[in-house]
Amino acid sequence: MAKSLKIAVLFSGRGSNLENLIRHFHKKRFDDNLTEIVPITNRPDAGGIKLALRYGLESIVIDHKKFDTREDFDAALVKKIKTISPDLVVMAGFMRILTPVFTSQIKAINLHPSLLPLFKGANAIEESFESGMKVGGVSVHYVTSELDSGEIIDQVCVKIEPGDTLQSFTEKIHRAEYSLLPKTVAELLGLRFNF
Ligand code: GRF
Repeated sequence: MAKSLKIAVLFSGRGSNLENLIRHFHKKRFDDNLTEIVPITNRPDAGGIKLALRYGLESIVIDHKKFDTREDFDAALVKKIKTISPDLVVMAGFMRILTPVFTSQIKAINLHPSLLPLFKGANAIEESFESGMKVGGVSVHYVTSELDSGEIIDQVCVKIEPGDTLQSFTEKIHRAEYSLLPKTVAELLGLRFNF
């Protein structure tokens, strides 16, 4: 019988990386493994909720505004994740700084649109583009309570060409994300993949 592998994906916004992970992993077979995505968001209005519904997937919503402290929200998130018992927790556009309540209990990976340790934080794409560097990139790293600072798992470079605009560079970054994140997820789960 196929072994079921659950991938919890945490998101806060439009959810294009969530959709990409759904396409690669939801109800997909890798040898004897059947993978499944469980979408989780902190925002009841996140665009990714509708995207996931197109694939028949209901998102779990834990609205951070309903909690008095970061720690209370993190405790609720940890409790939910523990009931799901995923094989991997992936943050893809999950816009929350996590406290040790979360990071001491859950091992998670995060996608970040720069060549870490450069350009941490929410404006990484713009800052890379305006830095004068000829390359930007995408990183996947382990999550710690220090923003975008955990051990780097994998990275790819994205060239900044003379004709690039912020928009064209942003599109290249997203394309790199859509390739790097699924590959990293597959590798961490030990799945044999050909994408
Ligand atoms: C991605 O660029 C990711 O690297 C960053 O937030 C963005 C999320 O985009 N952390 P989406 O919601 O997956 O479309």
